[in-house]
Amino acid sequence: MTDLAFAHTEATRLPEDQRRAILADPGFGNHFTDHMVSIEWTKEAGWHNASVVPYGPIQMDPASSVLHYGQEIFEGLKAYRRPDGSIVTFRPDANAKRMNESARRLALPELPEELFVQAIRELVRVDADWVPTSPDQSLYIRPFMIADENFLGVRSAHRARFMVIASPAGPYFTGGVKPVSIWLSQDLSRAGRGGTGAAKCGGNYAASLLPQDEAARNGCQQVLFTDSATEDTIDELGGMNLFLVRADGTLVTPRLNGNILDGITRKSLIQLAKDRGHAVEEREITVSEWREGAADGSIVEAFACGTAAVITPIGRLKSADFTIDFGDRAPGPLTMSLREELTGIQFGTTEDRFGWLD
Ligand code: COI
Repeated sequence: MTDLAFAHTEATRLPEDQRRAILADPGFGNHFTDHMVSIEWTKEAGWHNASVVPYGPIQMDPASSVLHYGQEIFEGLKAYRRPDGSIVTFRPDANAKRMNESARRLALPELPEELFVQAIRELVRVDADWVPTSPDQSLYIRPFMIADENFLGVRSAHRARFMVIASPAGPYFTGGVKPVSIWLSQDLSRAGRGGTGAAKCGGNYAASLLPQDEAARNGCQQVLFTDSATEDTIDELGGMNLFLVRADGTLVTPRLNGNILDGITRKSLIQLAKDRGHAVEEREITVSEWREGAADGSIVEAFACGTAAVITPIGRLKSADFTIDFGDRAPGPLTMSLREELTGIQFGTTEDRFGWLD
């Protein structure tokens, strides 16, 4: 598809009073805007039929390959309302690139990056009224791609569909920016060498759900996954990347080892921290190192980061064998100042000196 013309079908919009009631307390992932984007792909015709249509159920044949073999990928990014009322999105080009990396791993078609970015712009423009105005709220945008060929043979599909939906969102964790507790999954993994750990595909998140339930039973909000081979090397959390802060201000985060997501918040924070003069180490980190560092005072803060989580302080690491509380379970100062700077750029109160906004 070379031209970026999207057909538009106007939706019956949710009445304004109902939309306002939702925006007063949207939670995360509960409500959806009036429209969605759909672009179709076939092996013969490539990408075609780009359209913005009313949000609603999609027709799907029960034999659609995604329903059987999970050939699916997704992205997450946000649109922010700035003090002057204008709306921006954060690094959509980075999401476009990452989605194509996921597409390659899941044998799905790549979508031209400009088409991805255009699709986001079209949806945000038509559903601009859904971008919240309150602090700590934004419009969470969920692009995704599914294989929808009606065929039960196991091979990469010859038909796919790219879609974008959007959902007004408050903080991912109920309770706002409070330190969360992390459950160390000791027996169950989300990724292994050569697997799909670095791709943003539904299967990785499906694999995290059982340990996530275990975490919840143990009073924790997220799961910490380690490398399935060593069971000590930290990979990432169920849906977020992890950072530790050393007493000298050095940030330490697991290197991109093929098992973990190349998070856009992760890479933005690395750039932000380096720009401030902090050392950032992307390397192997073990649970033992974290435990010892917390005990001897050399590791003073920990936080989770991602589009949904933004930057969320970690107050406790718990497993079947131990519980460690960090920094009296209060948010760390560097964690909070990085959060302030990043959200300042996103919400337009701090200069966008890296050119991240669209
Ligand atoms: C995101 O941060 O965008 C994700 O996809 C993670 C998920 C926990 C919502």
